[in-house]
Amino acid sequence: MTKATAVAHANIALVKYWGKRDEKLLLPQAGSLSIALDKLRTVTTVELGGAKDVFELDGAAQDPSRVRALLDAAGISEKARVVSRNDFPTAAGLASSASGFAALAVAACAAAGLRRTTGELSALARLGSGSAARSVPGGWAVWEGESARQVQPPQHWDLRFCVALCAAGPKLTGSRDGMRSSKETSPFHAAWIEQCRRDLPEALRLLEQRDLPGLGALAERNALRMHADALAADPPLLYWEPATIACLKELQLLRGRGVQAWATIDAGPHVVAICAPADAKQVETRLRGVSGVKDVLVCAPAGGAQAVVPF
Ligand code: DP6
Repeated sequence: MTKATAVAHANIALVKYWGKRDEKLLLPQAGSLSIALDKLRTVTTVELGGAKDVFELDGAAQDPSRVRALLDAAGISEKARVVSRNDFPTAAGLASSASGFAALAVAACAAAGLRRTTGELSALARLGSGSAARSVPGGWAVWEGESARQVQPPQHWDLRFCVALCAAGPKLTGSRDGMRSSKETSPFHAAWIEQCRRDLPEALRLLEQRDLPGLGALAERNALRMHADALAADPPLLYWEPATIACLKELQLLRGRGVQAWATIDAGPHVVAICAPADAKQVETRLRGVSGVKDVLVCAPAGGAQAVVPF
């Protein structure tokens, strides 16, 4: 086969990856834990052969250099036409690199007829973007070294993740540069990494027990500490918008009224609220009412990246 299609979902980390021990190989300083999100989906088709590399994302031609680097790492030297489509608003700055590189790794190996284990595909996707390693196994995924593994399937725990879009347009400093700058210049960085090493085993215990107040509060603390590290960088990295803080306050208010919902925030302005399915409607409505919030996507847990069998 010289043509194959794969789907993958983006993921949100509850214990974040923010710091590399190897900048070239994209190896993390500490382990991270994430959940794949069903509504944040990328579909990628790779067709081998042709005269030059072409990479198209949501209908627009892109620089194919990062795609080529991943194909080279897979041992694929043929030129490729890669067509990728996100089911969610990329322009809003939602993380698309994780689902994008996971789908690319799976589709490229399928197109080239290369049989690879999930671990090998995860390690390959990692070379495109670190967090993509976790989108290959999907579900609840832990990434500690070269590749990520699924520690619980998506069915383990029926939760909802309400993604509040707090800005339009791409963020100012990407994760790659922000992470490097935090490691090199933030006086808090070593403490942040040590905190992640304590948070991961605790988060896994809370996940196993399906302890929402425990895991929710841990995830919110972990995210705010990552942002404390970024804020302490030189120059400082402030990823938030006024709507980001307003969402955090709204969730605090809701918790005061007995609604169990906690926030996590990646290297951008958007807030992801973690809650039980029964509370999702209320959380969604409250976040929609926050000034500056453009939209709210309510997601459920999703599985791993998969090649699509043509029929
Ligand atoms: C804040 O995976 O985008 O989302 O490895 O440099 O491509 P690179 O970075 P990337 O960083 C993700 C950072 C984060 C936290 C996380 O997903 O764990």
